[in-house]
Amino acid sequence: MSTTPSILLLCGSLRTGSSNESVLRTVQAVAPARVRTVLYEGLAALPHFDPDDDTDPLPAPVAELRAAIRAAAAVLICTPEYAGTLPGSFKNLLDWTVGGTEICDKPVAWVNAAAAGRGRGAEATLRTVLGYTGADIVEPACVSVPVDRGTVGADGVITDEGVREQLGTVLARLLTPR
Ligand SMILES: Cc1cc2nc3c(=O)[nH]c(=O)nc-3n(C[C@H](O)[C@H](O)[C@H](O)COP(=O)(O)O)c2cc1C
Repeated sequence: MSTTPSILLLCGSLRTGSSNESVLRTVQAVAPARVRTVLYEGLAALPHFDPDDDTDPLPAPVAELRAAIRAAAAVLICTPEYAGTLPGSFKNLLDWTVGGTEICDKPVAWVNAAAAGRGRGAEATLRTVLGYTGADIVEPACVSVPVDRGTVGADGVITDEGVREQLGTVLARLLTPR
């Protein structure tokens, strides 16, 4: 069995050229070889949460989401703020985690990629919802890393060395046993 820890990367933006996705792509670029990173790409395919559908057999995209969370040693979120809180599509994803136990006690952190002082409403909602799900919020790994879109390369990866270093630290903190 593989002992390589895997980190599931959840992006809250569906936008092509998303700066939040660029953070997660950069996390993949700076991750050491001993860490596996998996960028979740199923957000748009998730159905609207309906408690009537939260039963076996689960809708396939929901089963895939829960399996991805189950398989991960930790989860890292990077999401924009919309209208003072989370984008509806990402809150929908989190709603689908409530009925499963996969995220309970799972180390979870987020990177706030918004400009300094922005995105606090999204962070507050993450704290509330993740707390409700029983996720293990890794406080030292929850950081603000403002992204300058001018530093995102054509491959969607951030070139700024300072940002890359900060994201490497986030990964290390997320995987540090506590
Ligand atoms: C519908 C909508 C609502 C937004 N609301 C906020 C907000 O409340 N606070 C904020 O700081 N930015 C807000 N923004 C700006 C986005 O958070 C910002 O453009 C972010 O970079 C988008 O992330 P992305 O590049 O990953 O898609 C909003 C953008 C949109 C499209």
